[in-house]
Order: sequence, then C-alpha cells, then structure tokens
Amino acid sequence: MLAWGIIGTGDISDRLVADLSTVPGATVTAVWGRSTERADGFALSHGIPFATASRDALLSRVDVDVVYIATPAHTHADIAIEALEAGKHVLIEKPIATCAADAERVYAAASTAGRFAMEAMWMRFNPLHIEVIDRVREGLLGAVHNVRASFGTPFQARGRILTPGQGGSILRDRGIYPVTLAHWFLGEPASLVASGVFEDGTDIDGHATLENRQSFAQLAWSGIRFLDLTATVTGERGWITIDPMFWAGSRARVHAGSVERIFGVPEIVEHPRQGNGYGPMLGAVTDAIGRGRLEHPWHSHADSIAITRTLDAVLAGMSASPDV
Ligand SMILES: NC(=O)c1ccc[n+]([C@@H]2O[C@H](COP(=O)([O-])OP(=O)(O)OC[C@H]3O[C@@H](n4cnc5c(N)ncnc54)[C@H](OP(=O)(O)O)[C@@H]3O)[C@@H](O)[C@H]2O)c1
Repeated sequence: MLAWGIIGTGDISDRLVADLSTVPGATVTAVWGRSTERADGFALSHGIPFATASRDALLSRVDVDVVYIATPAHTHADIAIEALEAGKHVLIEKPIATCAADAERVYAAASTAGRFAMEAMWMRFNPLHIEVIDRVREGLLGAVHNVRASFGTPFQARGRILTPGQGGSILRDRGIYPVTLAHWFLGEPASLVASGVFEDGTDIDGHATLENRQSFAQLAWSGIRFLDLTATVTGERGWITIDPMFWAGSRARVHAGSVERIFGVPEIVEHPRQGNGYGPMLGAVTDAIGRGRLEHPWHSHADSIAITRTLDAVLAGMSASPDV
C-alpha cells in the first residue's frame, strides 16, 4: 500500500483526495494545512488520521511515501525540493513551477534523491486523450500539421490566479492545457508569436501561434472572455475534435477514416469521466512508484521542462506585445 501525504487543503486537494480514495493500492495518511483548523477540518472530512500545520512533522513521518503538493504555483518548487530531500516521492500540481529553471531544480533534486517526481498533468492520463494520442500515433490522421485549442471563460478567476506574487497567471493556470496538448502532437516549437492582456501585472488573456517547420498550433486562453473549450488536431487525412471541456474531455469526434466521416457524420469516441477525473493519473503514479520508476513516460521530466520553457517563451512574447 502506498501512503500519500497531502500538502494544501484548498479546492483541488479536496477533489483529488476524493478520487484517491478509489485508487487500489493507495491510502492517505496525513495532511498539512497552513492553519491547524483547516488541516483538522480537511482530515475530518476525508477520514485522514494525521493533520498538522508543520510541514516538517508531515515530511518526517515514516507512514508517508509520496506527497501531493497543491499550494499556489510560486511555492511548488521549494516545497517539492523540501519533500524530496526528506526522502518522499512527489506529485506536484500544475504548473510545476513559475519558470523552467525552477522546474529543472525540482527534477534535479528528484534525481539526486532517487525519488519519483511528476507534474500533475492529469489530462495526459484521461482515457479519452490516451485513445486520441494512440490513434494519432498509429497513423489515423497521417502526419499532423495543426493543433488548435482554447480555454476561456469570463468568470471571476480565483484570487491566487490573479496575484502576481503568488505565481498568478492565466497562461500558467489555463493556457498550460492548450500548450501541453500542442506539445503532444507537434513537440517544442521552433518559434512563436504571442500577445496578451495584463491587469495589475498579471496576464489575464492571451493567444499564441507556435511554429515548427511544417506545422503550427493556434492556442488561446482567457479569464475574462469565452474562447471555445474544444481542441482539434489535424493531419493530412482528417482531424479529431475533443469536445468541451477538452482538458477534462469525455467525448471526441473523429473526422477521418472515410469520406463519410470527414464530410458527414464523424465517429464518436467516448470515455465517461469517473469521479472528478484524477483517478487514472493517481493510479498511474501509484503504479509507477510501486515499480520503482523515477518518472512517468507519459509526462516525463523532459516533457514537463519543455512545456514550462514554452510557457516562459509565450509569456515573454505576450509581455513584449501586450494587447491594449
Ligand atoms: N489539476 C487541476 O484540475 C487543478 C485545478 C485547479 C487548480 N490546480 C492547481 O492546484 C494548485 C492549488 O489550487 P487550488 O485551486 O486548490 O487553490 P486554493 O483553493 O486557493 O488552495 C491553495 C492552498 O494552498 C495554501 N496556500 C496559500 N498560500 C500558500 C503559501 N504561500 N504557502 C503554502 N501554502 C499556501 C492555501 O492555504 P489557506 O487555506 O490557508 O489559504 C490552500 O490550502 C494550483 O497550483 C493550481 O494551479 C489544479
């Protein structure tokens, strides 16, 4: 049985721990919160035996094998390194860090400690995305030359997302999904153009074109307006569209394989979401650690660093070319 410790008692911890309780071979033994009251309350609502407001107290426990970190983005790297140096494996919420150099520090610390580390990119473990990736790699679309994906809603973003001092960034919070999807099919871009809207020093809306020699991705993200919540990958023989919300998608339409499917009725691929959707990633991490792996091949250290590097480059492009 792999014992999990939880760092952070916010919204996502609440939803993820609910899914963790359904993963075979996993148990939650401890939780850390910034205040004793919130840690105790979280432990009570999830039936966790140990709660503390001291991270040392959690990290020194022998009944914690792996730590899940769900605090604001600017704290991820340092807390992850603290946990790795204490001998724990780590699963770190996205974005793993607020710059590629910090992501590299985390994975270097994991290598030194000989412990598993992964950014919690749950989208990669969604059965729908697994099927889409597998079928594209098997050649269903031929060579892929375009990805188009967006994630925009005008709803009030959470405070941490709008606070620059807390690593706030709509790009790193939402744009990371379109950027990650583009990396799956097209790799790291050779060049890009980007522009965005900033408010009080935080990016709240943006779009970018990522380019390679024979392919390009058109990506957009926003916390102030709707941008359709679908993603499409297109190749020489057709395209696949993942329906809203694409990053947590359960349905895709395949416009490939026959003239009828391209121009008429597409093939429907469905994988209904289980729980809050984090179970497949948590099962994969539990399994990988059980096998003694230090990273997961579906979201490796190199993948995560390359994606963070692209986010850095997009943000630099947006800063150089703000929409007024
Ligand atoms: N995978 C997903 O679907 C998904 C969805 C949403 C968010 N996320 C990621 O998950 C992380 C947390 O998001 P959330 O929505 O759960 O945020 P949240 O509800 O605001 O919770 C943040 C947690 O971090 C604690 N915290 C705040 N400032 C801190 C600091 N300086 N040092 C240490 N802990 C601090 C908070 O403690 P207090 O309660 O004391 O303030 C709270 O426990 C973010 O990195 C976000 O990008 C992932």
